[in-house]
Amino acid sequence: MIPPPPTHYAEPLLVGSVRLHSRFTLAPLAGYTNYPFRRSIREIGGAGLCTTDLVNARAIIEKSKRTLELLITGPDDRPLSVQIFGANPAEMAGAARWLEDYGATLIDINMGCPVRKVVKTGGGSAMMCDTTGTTVRLVETVVQATKLPVTVKMRLGWDDTSHSAPFFAREFEKVGVAAVTVHGRTREQGFGGGVNHHGIRAVVEAVERIPVFGNGDVNTIADAAKMIADTGCHGIAIGRGALANPWFFRQLDQWVRTGDPGPRAGYGERIDFMTRHLDRLIAWKGDEKAGCANFRKVAAWYGKALRMPKADKHRLTMLASRAEFLSLVERLRASGPPEGWTEWDAQAADVAVPTGPNAHW
Ligand SMILES: Cc1cc2nc3c(=O)[nH]c(=O)nc-3n(C[C@H](O)[C@H](O)[C@H](O)COP(=O)(O)O)c2cc1C
Repeated sequence: MIPPPPTHYAEPLLVGSVRLHSRFTLAPLAGYTNYPFRRSIREIGGAGLCTTDLVNARAIIEKSKRTLELLITGPDDRPLSVQIFGANPAEMAGAARWLEDYGATLIDINMGCPVRKVVKTGGGSAMMCDTTGTTVRLVETVVQATKLPVTVKMRLGWDDTSHSAPFFAREFEKVGVAAVTVHGRTREQGFGGGVNHHGIRAVVEAVERIPVFGNGDVNTIADAAKMIADTGCHGIAIGRGALANPWFFRQLDQWVRTGDPGPRAGYGERIDFMTRHLDRLIAWKGDEKAGCANFRKVAAWYGKALRMPKADKHRLTMLASRAEFLSLVERLRASGPPEGWTEWDAQAADVAVPTGPNAHW
C-alpha cells in the first residue's frame, strides 16, 4: 500500500533566497556524490538539490588538485550545495567566498561527520560538544562572509545524553543560517541502531522559520511518509537510498504530486544508468583507467541491483577497461534479466557504511 502524500510537499521550498522545486535532496556521500553521479541523478528528475562530498575548507583555499576535482560541476548541476568542513573561521569564510565566485548555489557546513580525521581537527561532530559559542560564531562568520544561503548538516548530538541539535539549530537560525539537515543518529551511534524521529522532531520544534531536512534511512516511499509524519520535517535529505535506487527522487516527486510514485526502473534502464555512470566517471577523471578504478567502488551495488552472477560481479569490482565493461554489459543485455529478477526494491540496498563512529569513509 502506497501511503497518501502530505499535500504541502508538492509546494516548492525556500532555502534563504533559493527556491527548491522538490523537497527531496541528495545528501553528501563522500566518494559517491561527485559530478558524474549528481548529473545522472538529476537527469532522471525529482531531486530538489544535490550536495557535493564534504570538502576541506583549507584545501579549497589552497586549491588542492583533489579538492578541485571534487568541485567539478557544470550548468546541468544546479542548484548545487557545496559542503565544507573545518574549524578555522578564517578558512571557512575564505572557502565560502571562493565558492560564491565559483558559482555554488549554497554552502553547507558539515557538523555531523563521525570520521576521526574530521573530529580530530575540531570540525565535524566535535563542534556539537561546544555550547559556549565558538561553534555558533564560526557558523556566523561563514554566513557573514557570503551572500549565498548557508546551511548546516548535523547529527542529533554526541551521544544520547547530549542531544545538542535543537540548541544549535535555534542558535544557527539566529545568526542567519537558512536551513538545517539532521541525521537522526548520534555520533556515538555511528550508522548503527535506528533513526530517532523524536530527536528530529525536537529540532523542527526548536526553530522558528527555517526549514529542517530530516535524514536517515529513508529508502522507500513508506519511509518518507513516516519521516514526514513523525518529525514534521520540511524536506528530506536522502543518501544511500539514492545510490541504491537513482529513480527514488523521481518516484518521491511523482508521489507528492499525484499520489502515485510511477514505475520502478526496469533491467535495461538500470544497465543504461550504470553505463552512463561509468562513462561520466571516465570523463570526470580524464582517464579511462582512473575512471574504471573509481567505478569499482559502486560496482557492488550495481551487481546486486542487477543480480549479476558472482563471476560478473567480481569482474566489475576489478574493472580495468571500458571495453571489458561493454562486453559484459552486452552479454547481460542479450541474456536479459535473470530468472526471478523483479524491479529491484531499494530496501535491499547494501551500500557500505563506515563501521564505527571513528571509521574512515
Ligand atoms: C559512504 C558515506 C559517505 C558519507 N559522506 C558524508 C559527507 O561527506 N558529509 C556528510 O555530511 N555526511 C556524509 N555521510 C552521511 C550521509 O549524508 C547521511 O547523513 C547518512 O548516510 C544517513 O542518510 P541515509 O540513510 O539516507 O544514507 C556519508 C554516509 C555514507 C554512508
